[in-house]
Amino acid sequence: MKKTSFFEKVAEGNTTVFVYKSKESKKGPGSKDGVPFYNPAMEFNRDLSIILAQWLINNSKNKVKLLDGLASSGIRGFRMANELKGDFEVFINDWDEKAYRLIRKNLKTKQYENVKVYNKNLNVLLSEEKFDYVDVDPFGSPVSFIDSAARSIKNNGIIACTATDTATLCGVYPRVCIRRYGAVPFYGIPMKEVGLRILIGFICQEVCKYDKGIDPLVCYAADHYFRVYVRIRNGVGYANRSMENLGFIRQGEHIGFEKNSKNIGPLWLGRIQCKKIFGDLQGILSDKKLGTKNVLWKFFDVLEEEADAPCFFYTTDALASFFKKSPPRMEMVFDYLKSKGFDVFRTHFSPTGFKTNASFDIIEKMFK
Ligand SMILES: C[S@@+](CC[C@H](N)C(=O)[O-])C[C@H]1O[C@@H](n2cnc3c(N)ncnc32)[C@H](O)[C@@H]1O
Repeated sequence: MKKTSFFEKVAEGNTTVFVYKSKESKKGPGSKDGVPFYNPAMEFNRDLSIILAQWLINNSKNKVKLLDGLASSGIRGFRMANELKGDFEVFINDWDEKAYRLIRKNLKTKQYENVKVYNKNLNVLLSEEKFDYVDVDPFGSPVSFIDSAARSIKNNGIIACTATDTATLCGVYPRVCIRRYGAVPFYGIPMKEVGLRILIGFICQEVCKYDKGIDPLVCYAADHYFRVYVRIRNGVGYANRSMENLGFIRQGEHIGFEKNSKNIGPLWLGRIQCKKIFGDLQGILSDKKLGTKNVLWKFFDVLEEEADAPCFFYTTDALASFFKKSPPRMEMVFDYLKSKGFDVFRTHFSPTGFKTNASFDIIEKMFK
């Protein structure tokens, strides 16, 4: 009788790994169904981490230590081992026994030489060793790992972090957000941007405690998660300058730090993309074989444009409903605001969204 296999092979980028067969593996954000987890919907997320890790290696003088800290099957770490070029080593960790066995199986299949695997609580590992790149990709919130990642990360290294507790960060459960992130969220049109900025603000505070600063490289909101890549800079000056980017907002205006529970935040009000690295990222993208390459090209284009934009955005549909008019075409909005001498930018947060330095009065005139 033929032996049933618990595993199936999946391919991403240039890499093939074994994952456990799972009824849930083909849809949605996935869940903790008792077997180590592979979510095909996160290929885009992993492809982008390949590009950022390659960027880090290209911009480092020494051997780069990359950690896939919550690895499950290890697909992200094995992809790094297989698809990155240069002087680096990869560390793959999961505390779950089944995940660890799967990671070892994957390790044996290709005899990776630059990979070391661990079966530890990530917080313990991060307290024992220092890394140049720490990937934190949990089920739900990353909050319980950021303090130890902040201690472990080397100067100029990158903390990469996913948060799938988007409902919390977007204000569906405000009390949970206050407990978890120490910040008051907002439920409404710009909630994704507010949520992402609360996450970055939280990381900023966790890092700055240790006299280190953060430099956001690429930060974005996707369907069911937020993802943040921040570069860490050691030094009190960097820490102080980072903290200056924290603040509160009220609907419609920015204000400084104030003790007022009705304020939204604290949240990161600085830039969330590093415009100057996008040329490098596009160069790396053109060299790699990635399943989501075409989507990434377009995505980089929008993020690069958005890098210079002010915080927060309008959407044509929300404005139309506010002014009781039909929504204008995006080209019309861009042409109008540019013709009046204002800057206007697309935003990845919404296909009908735009960011501008024009005041609300100008927007109102546009609708008249
Ligand atoms: C969402 S999955 C990781 C998915 C994986 N990064 C990928 O791209 O396919 C989260 C993993 O974190 C592991 N995990 C949760 N808490 C942990 C901890 N404290 N230390 C180490 N691993 C942990 C779980 O066992 C699970 O396999």
